[in-house]
Amino acid sequence: MSSQYLTLFNTLDTFLNQTQEFWRFEPFHLSYADCELTANNSLGRWLLSLSNQEICELKESPELVTQSISQYIPSLAETIVDTQVLSLNSSELELPRGVSEGVPGRKLDQIVAMGSAVLERHVGEEWLEWCSGKGFLGRILAGQSNQKVTSFEYQQALCDSGQSEANRLELPMEFVQGDAFCSDSAAVFNDKQHAVALHACGDLHVTLLQRAVAAALPAVTFSPCCYHLIKHDSYQALSLPAKGSLLRLNKTELRIPLQETVTGGERVKRHRQMEMTYRLGLDYLLRIELGKNEYVPIPSIKKSLLSDGFEAFALWAFEQKGFNYSDTFPLDKYLKLGEERFWRMERLSLIQQPFRRLIELWLALDKILYLEEHGYRASIHEFCSRSATPRNLLIHAER
Ligand SMILES: C[S@@+](CC[C@H](N)C(=O)[O-])C[C@H]1O[C@@H](n2cnc3c(N)ncnc32)[C@H](O)[C@@H]1O
Repeated sequence: MSSQYLTLFNTLDTFLNQTQEFWRFEPFHLSYADCELTANNSLGRWLLSLSNQEICELKESPELVTQSISQYIPSLAETIVDTQVLSLNSSELELPRGVSEGVPGRKLDQIVAMGSAVLERHVGEEWLEWCSGKGFLGRILAGQSNQKVTSFEYQQALCDSGQSEANRLELPMEFVQGDAFCSDSAAVFNDKQHAVALHACGDLHVTLLQRAVAAALPAVTFSPCCYHLIKHDSYQALSLPAKGSLLRLNKTELRIPLQETVTGGERVKRHRQMEMTYRLGLDYLLRIELGKNEYVPIPSIKKSLLSDGFEAFALWAFEQKGFNYSDTFPLDKYLKLGEERFWRMERLSLIQQPFRRLIELWLALDKILYLEEHGYRASIHEFCSRSATPRNLLIHAER
C-alpha cells in the first residue's frame, strides 16, 4: 500500500516516538514532583521565565506556543506544517423551517457544516446515522436528500424524541434503539447506505468502521471524539502500520487531544483555575496532614460550590471520602501551595500543547489507513472552525 496518508502516518509516528518525553506526562500530577522543571535546559529556562500573565496569553494563542517551543524541540515546526489538515469550504445549507428546532447553537453550527460536507460527498441510496442522539444530523440529511435515514441510538428516550420530531416534520427517518457493541447492531447496516457519525466516542466509531467494512457500505463519513472511551486499557490500532508502530497510548494519553477545549468566557476560566487550585492544594493537605502517599481522586463538584471557598471545598472533599477533618489544618498554607502548583501545571502543559493535534492525527490516520486497506479511498479535512468544536476532523471514505 502506498498512499500520501501512509507517508504522513510514518512522519508522525517517527516524530511522536522521538519526542515522547515532551508529551507523555500528566501536568496535573507532575506538578507535584520537584524534579521536572529545572533551569538545566533551555526549554526549562524559558518556561520558568514566563510570568503568569504570559502563560495566560500563550494559552490563548496556540500558534505562538508552537513558535516558541519549536526553538527547543527539533522538527516540531516542520512536522506541524507537513501534517496540516485542510479546511473544507462546503456550501451554505438552506435549512427548511423547523429542522433546526431545539438544536443548541454550537451544535447547530457543527451539524450544518457536517451535513453540507456529507451531502456534497454522498454515495449511496440511503443513510445510516450511527449513535444519532436525537438525530439532528439525520434530519438535515433526510430533509435535503429525501432518502431514508436509519438513526441508530442506545437511549430509548432520544429515539422517541427524535422519532416524534421526524414524524412531525414528515421526514423519512426511522430510529432504531440498540447497543452498538452488541452483535445485533450489524443488522442495521446494508450495502446501499452512506453511514455518518458526528462525534461518536472511541470504540463507537471504531465499531462503526468495522461494521461498515464488513457490510461493504459505499461510503462512511465521521468525526471522531473521546478517544479514551474504549474497553481496553490502551489504544487498539486498526491498520497494519499502526499495529506495527512502537507507539502505545494508554487511556490517559488518549485524553491528551481532548485537552484542547473551546476556551470559555472569563467565568469558565475563573472556575477552572479555582477548582484546579483547590484540588492541588487539597492534594498537599492529604499528603502532609493525613500521610497519603498517592493522589486521592475526588469526585466532580458542582461549580457553584466553588465560590464558598477552599475551606468549604476541603470539608466537602473530606466528607466525600469519609476522612476525619480537623479545624487546625493550616488551610492558608495549602491554598497557597495549590496556587503555586496550578501555575506550575499551566507552565508544563504549554509543552504538551502542540502535540495534542499531532496525537489526534496519528489516531485519525490509523482509521484512514484501515479504510484504505479495505478498499476505500479516504480523506481527512477540518469540517468546521475550532471555535465551533475542537473535535473538527472529518474522515470520509468511499469504496
Ligand atoms: C457524543 S453523543 C453524539 C450524538 C449525536 N451524534 C450528536 O452529535 O448530537 C454520542 C451518542 O452515542 C450514544 N451511545 C452511547 N453508547 C452507545 C451504544 N453502545 N450504542 C449506541 N449508541 C450509543 C449516546 O447515547 C449519544 O447519543
